[in-house]
Amino acid sequence: MDNRPIGFFDSGLGGLTSIVHTMKLLPRERIIFFGDTARTPYGSKSPETIRQFTMQIGRFLVEQDVKMIVIACNTVSATCLTELRQACPAIPVIGVISPTAKVAAKICSEEDRIGIIATKVTVKSNAYERKINEKHPGLHLFSKACPAFVPLIEEGIIDNEIMDLTIRYYLDDFIRENRINTLILGCTHYPLIAANLKRIYPGLRIISSSQEVATAVQIELKKRDMFAEAVSGESVFYASDLSENYVNMIKMILGKEEEELDIKFKNLDI
Ligand code: DGL
Repeated sequence: MDNRPIGFFDSGLGGLTSIVHTMKLLPRERIIFFGDTARTPYGSKSPETIRQFTMQIGRFLVEQDVKMIVIACNTVSATCLTELRQACPAIPVIGVISPTAKVAAKICSEEDRIGIIATKVTVKSNAYERKINEKHPGLHLFSKACPAFVPLIEEGIIDNEIMDLTIRYYLDDFIRENRINTLILGCTHYPLIAANLKRIYPGLRIISSSQEVATAVQIELKKRDMFAEAVSGESVFYASDLSENYVNMIKMILGKEEEELDIKFKNLDI
């Protein structure tokens, strides 16, 4: 048993989508989240910059005495999971790509046409292709970077025509030409547009990295006998920029009022 909190982080609010699943699955666990809202998006930045930001966040979470770090960001998972593990040897560090790739490899067959949508950095890394092929060679994989999704989602531009047009701009040809029937949401921001995707492309099977990482957290805690014994305090949501928009988005994603949430500003450069 271990009553310390679990540390989650993302470049912005995308990681909250995996927290929603984790809270449902493991209601006793306390969470410390860090969203790097001042520096989002990461997905078009250089690997060196992403590494530098990641190490700062890792140090901050370790200072909060977390029992585990969840990289709730595909871009960071694709860039520097190994380095973060080396920097935090005392606790488990898990990323989102392996658990998601494992599920895709398990449920898909050679008849399926699998699209992976993600940031530029994640797509360029080929991390999904490598992980899926390790488990199930011969699957048909196609990837597409969709860099405008994250800034629009961070801005709350979701349930409207601008988002629908952006989805069609990136995905209409991609889905039609490659005859995609399964779509991996390889960015933790994208579950926030899952409803748009389902409406625009009905019948598409969707695999979400945010959902799969919650199951991976459960497996890891069980393996190490690290479940919390009882609810031991409130979860805390740190952000490097606390804009009104961010606070509104947290409320929307977690379905809670501001008074029910412990939201704090944290500048990692100080
Ligand atoms: N949510 C992130 C991911 O899963 C990062 C998006 C970004 O900052 O570009 O990749």
